[in-house]
Amino acid sequence: MSLEERSRDYREFMEGYFQNWLSQFAQEPQSRLYDAMGYSLLAGGKRLRPIFALDFCRMCGRDWKEAAPFAAAIEMIHTYSLIHDDLPCMDNDDFRRGRPTNHRVYGEGLAVLAGDALLTDAFMVASQAKLQKPGDMGLAVALMAEGAGSLGMVGGQVLDIMSEERVLSEQEVLDIQTRKTGRLISIACCLGVIAGGGTQAQFEAAAQFAAALGLAFQIRDDMLDVIGTQEEMGKGVGTDEHKNTFVRLYGLERCEALVQKYTACAIEALDAFENTEYMIALAKSLTDRRV
Ligand code: IPE
Ligand code: IPE
Ligand code: MG
Ligand code: MG
Ligand code: MG
Repeated sequence: MSLEERSRDYREFMEGYFQNWLSQFAQEPQSRLYDAMGYSLLAGGKRLRPIFALDFCRMCGRDWKEAAPFAAAIEMIHTYSLIHDDLPCMDNDDFRRGRPTNHRVYGEGLAVLAGDALLTDAFMVASQAKLQKPGDMGLAVALMAEGAGSLGMVGGQVLDIMSEERVLSEQEVLDIQTRKTGRLISIACCLGVIAGGGTQAQFEAAAQFAAALGLAFQIRDDMLDVIGTQEEMGKGVGTDEHKNTFVRLYGLERCEALVQKYTACAIEALDAFENTEYMIALAKSLTDRRV
């Protein structure tokens, strides 16, 4: 199966999963909340984090659909982080995933609450996973909370907004990105291994893959803020000029070399798995992504 075919299968599956999940709330009186959640959830993101969860499960030798609740939960947390990231009190962005941002359509109050609901409901969704070792559910929930919360993504976002006024050291920039972007990618890969009933060595390899790939991913994100277009990206560009991005730290040329270097590191970690051709091709395809 080609890179494109498998990616399409995963994306279509997730689309159906979310549509089905949202449909159960159709009769609730707070239907406007579900409209706001669905507006961002079904806006056609790249679905990279769910793809990681599903494919790490597959690379551990189990049916990838077994990882669906974890894959959905991570994408819900990621989507909430984007809704809040775009708010006027944060990055103040008007476009996301090819549409006006959530608060531009539903207003700030509902955008905040749609984010809150996506985060909280993610744990309800994750709890539906059928694991080979049922004791792993506690570990999975703890990983999700740690990766999304004060030590992880939220912590990184705090450091990000608090550091706009000064120039950071390389170590500080690396620390912020590891938390704000790297942790959720890491959770996606590690939960895929848990769903796949993988070994401790595979769990550690997944974390190693994600640490390197997450770096490559955020460096490319910062590059695209400079060299990308809003049409391709579906979000505003040139909005990070005042920020401590990797482009400000290294310049575009070095960023390009580092994306290649970290991607190669990530691919090395895949030796712990079977049937890695797809994940290798996916990681390589992200190095020159325009979206
Ligand atoms: C954007 O993530 C935010 C970052 C963490 C850099 P993605 O580029 O994965 O966004 P979507 O999910 O495709 O919209
Ligand atoms: C956001 O980083 C990361 C999270 C939402 C946690 P950015 O602010 O760089 O993401 P974009 O560029 O708006 O997608
Ligand atoms: Mg931001
Ligand atoms: Mg932003
Ligand atoms: Mg960005």
